Order: sequence, then C-alpha cells, then structure tokens
Amino acid sequence: MDAPGDAPAVAIAGATKTWPNGTRALDPIDLEVRRGEFLTILGPSGCGKSTLLHLIAGLEAPTTGSIRWWGGPHAATGRAGRRLAMVFQSPTLMPWARVDANVRLPLTLAHAPRDEADRAVADAIWLVGLAEFERHWPRELSGGMQMRASIARALVTRPDLLLMDEPFGALDEFTRQRLDSELSALWMKRGLTIVFVTHSIHEAVFLSTRVAVMGPRPGRLIDEIAVDEPHPRGDAFRLTTRFAGYAQRLSRLVAQACGGAAADDAPAAERV
Ligand SMILES: Nc1ncnc2c1ncn2[C@@H]1O[C@H](COP(=O)(O)OP(=O)(O)OP(=O)(O)O)[C@@H](O)[C@H]1O
Ligand SMILES: [Mg+2]
Repeated sequence: MDAPGDAPAVAIAGATKTWPNGTRALDPIDLEVRRGEFLTILGPSGCGKSTLLHLIAGLEAPTTGSIRWWGGPHAATGRAGRRLAMVFQSPTLMPWARVDANVRLPLTLAHAPRDEADRAVADAIWLVGLAEFERHWPRELSGGMQMRASIARALVTRPDLLLMDEPFGALDEFTRQRLDSELSALWMKRGLTIVFVTHSIHEAVFLSTRVAVMGPRPGRLIDEIAVDEPHPRGDAFRLTTRFAGYAQRLSRLVAQACGGAAADDAPAAERV
C-alpha cells in the first residue's frame, strides 16, 4: 500500500548490509525517521554510518530487511512532499563550473524549466549566504564556502528530507560552529527532516532533536537520547550545564558502545 498520510519519513525494518567483498557493515537496523525531526547518527569511524545513510538515500539496497519512504517504495520519492537530497562528506563540486552552475546541476539533470531553475538557484545560494559568490569558481572558495555551495546544491530541489554525511567534519571548529548554527536555523525555517552523521558529540547535542548511537562494525544501534531543548539554540546553549549533561550521557553511551562487543577484526584505529 502507498503512503498513509502520517507514515514516518523513513522506516527501516531489520535492514542489514554485507558488501560484495564479504564485509558485514550493518547488523539488523530498526529505525524510524520521524517527519520534521533532526536525527543525528553518532558512532566511531568504520561503524557503518555512511553505509546506513546510503541505504536511507536509496543509493544502496539493504542485503536483507526493508526500507520505506513516507510509507512507499523508493521509486515514489521525488514527488512533491517526498523529495530527498544528500550532502556528502566532501563538497564534490565540479571544478570546471561556477558556483551557480554547480548548484543548478540537479535541476539541469531533471530538465527543470529555465525560469523556475533560475529562481530556485538564486534562492538556494542566498539561503547559504553565497549570494556574492555565485559567479566564482570552486577553487576561489574556502572549504567552508565550498561546503555551503554543496548544501545549496542539495537544497535547490527543495527536499523534504536532507541526508548529511559528516558535512563539516573537515572544517575548523570556528567554521563548524557557525555552519551548525546556520544549519539549525535552516532546518527550522524550511521545516526540513534531517538525518545527520557525525563523530562529534558536541555537534550532535547542539543540532539534534534525537541522537542515535551506533556501535563498532558490524554497525548496530546501541541506544538513543532525545535532546529536549527549545530551538533556536544560540551559541550560549553550548555553555550551559544542560548541554554538558547531554554530552556526558552521549560520551557514556559511546564508551559503552566501543567497550562492549567490538568486532574482533576491527583494528583499534577504527574505534575512535
Ligand atoms: N563500497 C564498499 N565496499 C566494501 N566495503 C565497504 C564499502 N563501503 C564501506 N565499506 C566497509 O563497510 C564498513 C563501514 O563503512 P562506512 O563507510 O559505512 O563507515 P563509517 O561509519 O561511515 O566510517 P567513517 O566515520 O570513517 O566515515 C567499513 O568496514 C568499510 O570498509
Ligand atoms: Mg562515513
């Protein structure tokens, strides 16, 4: 049956992933992404976070188990109210195209009408604060600005569900905190549903309405906490004892996840 009106944005039931080379990346995962939430997946390097995000994006099929999007199959995504977009860990911009052409790419591929595309591109570039740089080349942008352009490219299709794989992982702490604040404001303004992957406990607490913690490979969900704090969360939130309390709870969960049943074949370096 197709999309009941109140179905979660994503419903994952018993999904596993074993790669063709035999690597068991995910043990059975049961997870629902609720509409409008900011869900962060937190876990050590190599635990299968990107694999899980690729399953959610429909870029890979689960080996066993099932995934539904708004109550329907992946083929039904892309319709109004069921659009999804992904932001990868590196900006993946085309170096031979200016910022506006990079941002326009998904619309070009979808053969969107020109006027409509012009408006959507200008809107997305403005939203990420790159209005003065739309005619620049990617090489003329800083790392943070390149990531903004990459986010604009994801936003240009007006997604309902935004999947973000450690988008700010390579940035310095100052830039990361600023982009975290902007992303939080964008999530509120656009009424987005976001699934965000990170290694950073502090980033998870600042951004999320819910944080799910994964254990080492083969990845599985260990536990989750709700970050029940009002939005918008200004920088002052980072200095509160409540913030520290959430961070402490998550640290304990991460320690428990990593100290528990670690995969025997996972090198220690993978268990950051
Ligand atoms: N395409 C692939 N083919 C084979 N193995 C893969 C593939 N992609 C990932 N893996 C393996 O699956 C496991 C999980 O990888 P994944 O990239 O999902 O981890 P991750 O949690 O995102 O790590 P990181 O935090 O370092 O990005 C790893 O052992 C990895 O080597
Ligand atoms: Mg990854």
